[in-house]
Amino acid sequence: MMRRILKKLFRRSSVRTAIRAGRMQVGRNVSWDRDFQVKLDGDRDLQLVVGDNSHLSGRIVVRGDGIVRIGNNCHFHEGTYIGCLESISILDDFFAAEGIFVVDNNNHPTSPSARQQMTKSPMGTAPWLWTTPGVASAPVVIEPCVWMGRNSYVLKGVTVGGGSIVAAAAVLARSVPPLSIVAGNPGKVVKTLEDDRV
Ligand SMILES: CC(C)(COP(=O)(O)OP(=O)(O)OC[C@H]1O[C@@H](n2cnc3c(N)ncnc32)[C@H](O)[C@@H]1OP(=O)(O)O)[C@@H](O)C(=O)NCCC(=O)NCCS
Repeated sequence: MMRRILKKLFRRSSVRTAIRAGRMQVGRNVSWDRDFQVKLDGDRDLQLVVGDNSHLSGRIVVRGDGIVRIGNNCHFHEGTYIGCLESISILDDFFAAEGIFVVDNNNHPTSPSARQQMTKSPMGTAPWLWTTPGVASAPVVIEPCVWMGRNSYVLKGVTVGGGSIVAAAAVLARSVPPLSIVAGNPGKVVKTLEDDRV
């Protein structure tokens, strides 16, 4: 019981602690859910920047040389996971359903021998770290006015063109042009929207 209360208190304070330490910068009118959590373990002083009128939820983790930039009017829901080792930019007028997953790195090495070395090592030691050699990463850019559907994924190196919709449960491992509706796994463009943005 006590453990659960302490855990909740710790979670709630991770955002304030990050802001106070200068690792996170927020614009005007930024809000976040009670359970929203940041884990800013990277090397930079500033690791998370959030523009005006945005709402945060879920969990954002930054490691290595990573920086996450979130624009103005960006709205996240429960179950969001953002994991950054290099750079993730989510530009203005973004919204997402629950359970979205955005990462700019593979989290673990792909080589079988490196993974064997990892599983044989105690969890949390060097072979488990995203910064371990062999963990591929590449910047992610989500251009303005994108909607990510429930349980959709954007993986390393992907640019989602402005105005697009990532359909529910889609997995994007490759970039898509502006105004796409992209669905499936691997994500494919299934429709192109008209550009009626103001
Ligand atoms: C599979 C994975 C490790 C990438 O491995 P990789 O060797 O770096 O793969 P690449 O990015 O070079 O992609 C190789 C091909 O697979 C496709 N691909 C990669 N990941 C994919 C995925 N998750 N679903 C569908 N296709 C995928 C790519 O589009 C590419 O195909 P193409 O060349 O025809 O376009 C990564 O995409 C992934 O899914 N990681 C799991 C992340 C995760 O679950 N983390 C949670 C914490 S452990």
